[in-house]
Amino acid sequence: EPEIITGKEEMRKWSRTMRAEGKTIGLVPTMGYLHQGHISLIKEARNHADLIVVSIYVNPGQFSPNEDLSTYPSDFSGDIHKLMSVPGGVDVVFHPHNLYDYGKIEVEVEDERERREKGQVVSCLEERRLGHETWVRVENLEKGLCGKSRPIFFRGVATVVAKLFNIVEPDVAVFGKKDYQQWRIIRRMVRDLDFGVKVIGADLVREDDGLAMSSRNVHLSPEERNKALAVYRSLSQAKSAAGNGQLNCRVLIDMVVQAINEAGGKTDYAEIVDQENLEAVEEINSPVVFCVAAWFGKF
Ligand code: PAJ
Repeated sequence: EPEIITGKEEMRKWSRTMRAEGKTIGLVPTMGYLHQGHISLIKEARNHADLIVVSIYVNPGQFSPNEDLSTYPSDFSGDIHKLMSVPGGVDVVFHPHNLYDYGKIEVEVEDERERREKGQVVSCLEERRLGHETWVRVENLEKGLCGKSRPIFFRGVATVVAKLFNIVEPDVAVFGKKDYQQWRIIRRMVRDLDFGVKVIGADLVREDDGLAMSSRNVHLSPEERNKALAVYRSLSQAKSAAGNGQLNCRVLIDMVVQAINEAGGKTDYAEIVDQENLEAVEEINSPVVFCVAAWFGKF
């Protein structure tokens, strides 16, 4: 059974004690409601570190007030149960109550109202007026793809991951390539800010029928879930078309967008981008990744 730690100081103390004993530490950051995708990250971390810390924390800093912070699924005891059956086990679950609680100082965020009146987006964290004002921004990588419709999302992710790295002080951390842009952003942050953490990317894990595993899938009705299979089906078709010589990105993207529309979904974006800088390419002649976000059901 994993040890459950909720305090930042206690977490850091555990890590430092273990490091002093010569152990290496692997961190897998999550927002809980764990599934096999998360478990595969833990198994990957086991290949690189002696001890494994899984963090479970739904981070208000990466949600906008119009997003699903209040309905984000959670099941802490179910999560612990799942972690108990991971081969090799998990040593610590870091489960802080609130990572932005600096002794409950509530501050007036100076220009929050002004910014909101101008139609600029603030996060749920700012809305709560907890005394936090320092943000990590990976200025170019955070702009495109998910960043277009979620302008404060990656700022919140990079900041909470920086906090987790400072609290847990891991040797390695594992992120899923399902969230490809997030993985690239964390790697760039670590390089640019000289974090002493090795960041590892783990492959996307899908259900047997091809749906990418995600905590949020629980919100899909059986019909919506079935329609959402169009994403993987059309991506697979685009991949084999590219394998057969169709290297024009417009054509490949149209295939996917059309299939999603026909299934009754709404595409947020579908782009073929360079794997390193995430910039859109017109023709495939270097390593690329096809990134898609789409809504099925309520939108
Ligand atoms: P969460 O959505 O819980 O995901 C935690 C980690 O699991 C991320 O690295 C994500 O890419 C990975 N993951 C999720 N589904 C996966 C799948 N089907 N296959 C492979 N990996 C998968 O991503 C977050 O939480 C948060 O933004 C976080 C990084 C914890 C910061 O708050």
